[in-house]
Parts: sequence; C-alpha cells; structure tokens
Amino acid sequence: AGTEVRVVKLGANIGARVDGVRLSGDLDAETVARIRSALLTHKVIFFRDQQHLDDAGQLAFAQLLGDLTLAHPTVRNKDNANILPIDSDYSKANSWHTDVTFVDRVPAISVLRAVQLPEYGGTTTWASTVSAYEKLPASLKALVDSLWAVHTNAYDYAANVDEARIGGVDVKFQQYREEFVSDVYETEHPVVRVHPETGERALLLGHFVKRLVGLTSTESQAVFQLLQNRVTQLENTVRWSWQDGDLAIWDNRATQHYAVADYDDLPRRLHRVTLAGDVPVSIDG
Ligand code: SIN
Repeated sequence: AGTEVRVVKLGANIGARVDGVRLSGDLDAETVARIRSALLTHKVIFFRDQQHLDDAGQLAFAQLLGDLTLAHPTVRNKDNANILPIDSDYSKANSWHTDVTFVDRVPAISVLRAVQLPEYGGTTTWASTVSAYEKLPASLKALVDSLWAVHTNAYDYAANVDEARIGGVDVKFQQYREEFVSDVYETEHPVVRVHPETGERALLLGHFVKRLVGLTSTESQAVFQLLQNRVTQLENTVRWSWQDGDLAIWDNRATQHYAVADYDDLPRRLHRVTLAGDVPVSIDG
C-alpha cells in the first residue's frame, strides 16, 4: 500500500496534498513513514475523501504519528477527552497562532477533521515559521536569535473577536472563554526554536504571546508585529478550502494558522487531535 502514496506540492514554501491513502489506525509502517516525511517536508498536509473516519478512527490514525495529549489544557470535552471540537458557536480560531504555545511542552502535531462545513467561506490558512525565519536578513536573525517570549492562554482575544461576543451577549462564547482561562498559564519560550526532528530553525510566536522578555510593551508589540508580518506574508502561506471528508495534519513546531471567519452565522465544526511535543529548544541549546 505504501507505494500508492502520492504527494502533490501546493506552494513553494508550505503545503502538500497527499493522495492514495485511506487513513486508519491499521496503516502499514511504510505508509506512516511516508506521511511523516511529507509532513516534515511540507509542514501541513491535506487528505481528501476520508469520509469513513469518525472520532475513533481519527484518534486511531493520529496515534500512529505520536502520543495523544488531552484535547486541551483547560477546555474539557465530556464526549471524548482527546478530541477538541472547534465549533463556530464559540470558537472561530480566526487569528494567527500556533496551537497551545502557553504550556511547556507545546504539542508537536495537530490533526484536524472536517465535521460540518459552511456552504461558503471557512477556509484555513497555514504559514511556515521555518521559511519565515530562513528569509530574515542577517541583522534580524541576530535580533531574534536570543529573544524569548512570554506565552499565555489569557491573551488579548478581544483584539480579534466581534464586539457582541465580548459584551457577554453570546453565552456559549462567554462560557468557552471562561473555561479557556479557568487555569492561567504563563510560559517563556525562545522566539527561535530548533525543530527536534529536522534541526530547522523556526519562529515561535502567534496570538498567545503576551510580551517579549526584556522589552517594553511598546517595543514588544513593534518587534512582534514585524516578525508576524514576515510569518503571514501570503507567499509564505497555503490556504485550504475544506470539503466533506477532508483531514489536515500540521507540524505545530513549524507553522502558524488562521481560520478565515467569512461564513456569516453558518455552522462550522472541525475536530482536532493534538500529539505531544517537547519543550522548545533555543539555538543555544
Ligand atoms: C485551529 O485553530 O486549530 C482550528 C483551525 C480551523 O478551525 O480551521
């Protein structure tokens, strides 16, 4: 079965579609190795036509790539402890981030499956934090190589959320926010991390960053924005238009992503599984 796998590159810097695989917990070792290799090379990979997968199937497949984490450090799912529903009722994920960077051991890999899609809109865009770093001029590399950032789940979500939701009108959203910050984490990570598998250097930022260590808040914001502009430059991204049966896997050590909230009040639901990662290591070890 391993020989049928076809990897179709989608852009110069990030993204590939993987064809010819029926995902399940029973894949042979060669196929799993090819999927892993495509993921490490392309940072985010997409599979069409996986309608046969349910939560159990998604979990069984994901476990071939690593150890499951709880769905989320603070948000609990009564139905399945390892599945995080991203449901537009309360969570739109429409700002640039790397998943769960506010903990010590940032998840290594996320596996996202389409469950209910809007008739229009609702694409997701990923950016390579490796090519963003690689393309920095030497002067900016010198600046970021020794920088550290404080990440927290109590970040300024108001910057990206509709006023109605913030005002407490939206009860489901309010409850979700309260659960999200029911335990507040603050964790320092290097801004440049060395990928534990590829050795590549990647920028580790995203919306959970509260400030850069040793800088004033004004300086933090300016440097953060300068680097985020590099990460999210369109040439550095790939945008995926979801269809029923789609599944995406991204290397959370090498990407940020943004779910585009352009589907009005239509329902949108995807199920996410995250796999355990390491404490990010700086270039100084
Ligand atoms: C996420 O941020 O993990 C979910 C992205 C999406 O909803 O497309």
